[in-house]
Amino acid sequence: MQRFIDRIREGLAQATGLERDELKIESPRDSKLGDLAFPCFPLARKLKQAPPKIAAELAEKVRIAGITTVATGPYLNFRIDRKELAETVLGEIQGAQENFGESKIGLGKTVVLDYSSPNIAKRFHVGHLRSTIIGAAVRRLHDALGYRTIGINHIGDWGSQFGKLVAAIDRWGDTVDLENDPLEALSTLYVRVNEEEKSDPELAEAGRAAFRELESGKQGHVRETWKHLTELSLQEFDRAYQRLGVTFDFVRGEAFYEPYLRSTIERIVEAGVAETSEGALVVSLEGFKEKMPPCLLEKSDGTTLYATRDLAAAFHRFEEFRFERCLYVVGSAQKLHFQQLKAVLKRMNLEWEPRLEHVDFGMLSLPGGKLSSRKGSVLLLDELLNRAVEEARKVIEDKNPDLTDADRIAEEVGIGAVIFNDLKRERIKDVVFEWSEVLSFEGETGPYVQYTHARLASILRKGAGREGSLDGSLLENAAPILLSLGRFPGVVRNAAENSEPSELAQFLLSLCREINSWLVPNKVLSEDPGLASSRLVLVRGAKICIRSGLRLLGVAAPEEM
Ligand code: ARG
Repeated sequence: MQRFIDRIREGLAQATGLERDELKIESPRDSKLGDLAFPCFPLARKLKQAPPKIAAELAEKVRIAGITTVATGPYLNFRIDRKELAETVLGEIQGAQENFGESKIGLGKTVVLDYSSPNIAKRFHVGHLRSTIIGAAVRRLHDALGYRTIGINHIGDWGSQFGKLVAAIDRWGDTVDLENDPLEALSTLYVRVNEEEKSDPELAEAGRAAFRELESGKQGHVRETWKHLTELSLQEFDRAYQRLGVTFDFVRGEAFYEPYLRSTIERIVEAGVAETSEGALVVSLEGFKEKMPPCLLEKSDGTTLYATRDLAAAFHRFEEFRFERCLYVVGSAQKLHFQQLKAVLKRMNLEWEPRLEHVDFGMLSLPGGKLSSRKGSVLLLDELLNRAVEEARKVIEDKNPDLTDADRIAEEVGIGAVIFNDLKRERIKDVVFEWSEVLSFEGETGPYVQYTHARLASILRKGAGREGSLDGSLLENAAPILLSLGRFPGVVRNAAENSEPSELAQFLLSLCREINSWLVPNKVLSEDPGLASSRLVLVRGAKICIRSGLRLLGVAAPEEM
């Protein structure tokens, strides 16, 4: 598609004398009007003429090979020759194969992504699922554009609760099964210590002392215990990451930035933006258009905060990676936190402050209510994934009882359904989890896209040996599919730019709908060898595109299901 856009820009530039890059080409609102459109409004002022008049004149004047121009109101619409459309788009896919959609626009630039980032010693619950899924997808989208991406799991491994846990392990460690079910054991201990410290000042003091020792950096029993419980928690999280196909370059929790806290505070003080208020060190954030309380750097007792550690992390990341973007994939509940973080950097006049972006998202909930670790209605991640796989297996067995390798496919469909369900809507919207909806083979679901892919794979298997030459003029009635395929690289680019995987998910849904409705009246394996061959090339191209799209979202594309 880019090739046609370039050609149109070239023709328009010649006719108008404008710079090519100034000429915005878009999709017409109604696809019946044309394949691409040029809105003439921006020219009105320059040429001192009404847009419809400009459009009419340009339609007369502009001549572009293989493209016809028609003026409709203030728009100049373009229709690409059908034969050339098919041969260009499918030729591009044949050349790129599974790399179709990739480009090099990010080459030499680095994007840091902070995603998943659960709090250790707690169960990984579905609340962190969205960050993991969205973050990993946004990362793959940037990878596809040639960026160097750095994935960081900023786990919550610091704070006074870890002192309490160490004290609790010291007292009751032998009453729980820390090694075999660490997260269960740790949450039991955490509940118990919070309960008993109320009436046991010695226990409370032991917890505080343990955290002081942790903060002092001293090596020894306390630090060893804390390290051990971090490792146990991470082993549990890794299981979920593996199932979801998610990886990180670094697991750097809040504790990692401990050694940099002093220099961070000094730096902020030296910039002249810190002040003391009631014994605490704060940065006042008045005067920003968003109303914000001051950012607390250090409490009166000398302890630092979540925000202090995020400031240290921001400096550390910029110094190490010189990022073009630093994306924080964190729920919208932390909007204020990231506003404050950016506001502090802005007050310090750091030119790279705009490169920090809070990629926020809405809540994930089950029909029963919101999933919060505090409120008890927690659905554990493993349980959620297991149930999805189980349900997927039922659906698959029902549809295709003879499927070999049903275990693997049930896993791919079940997990794929959970991921797709999370990514299909604008991320800021809340997600309600309805089992029947998530796993349906029809409608806006992962299984629907996977199923369409498997259907194409099956057609290709049946047509093995008959796929060869392509005559684009035989694919006239597949124009909507071809136009969509041609748009794919642009969709990937925009989805990355906006950190919005839903743009890709929605693209895939609409591509699948177009394909499925085209397949109804068009028999691919026609008796006519030329027709069958060209249609098979189209099916191959569509299959490659769906597969690439699913891969970028983190969803498997089984050949059969
Ligand atoms: N651990 C935090 C939480 O669960 C999320 C951390 C997000 N990343 C960051 N750099 N603050 O709420």
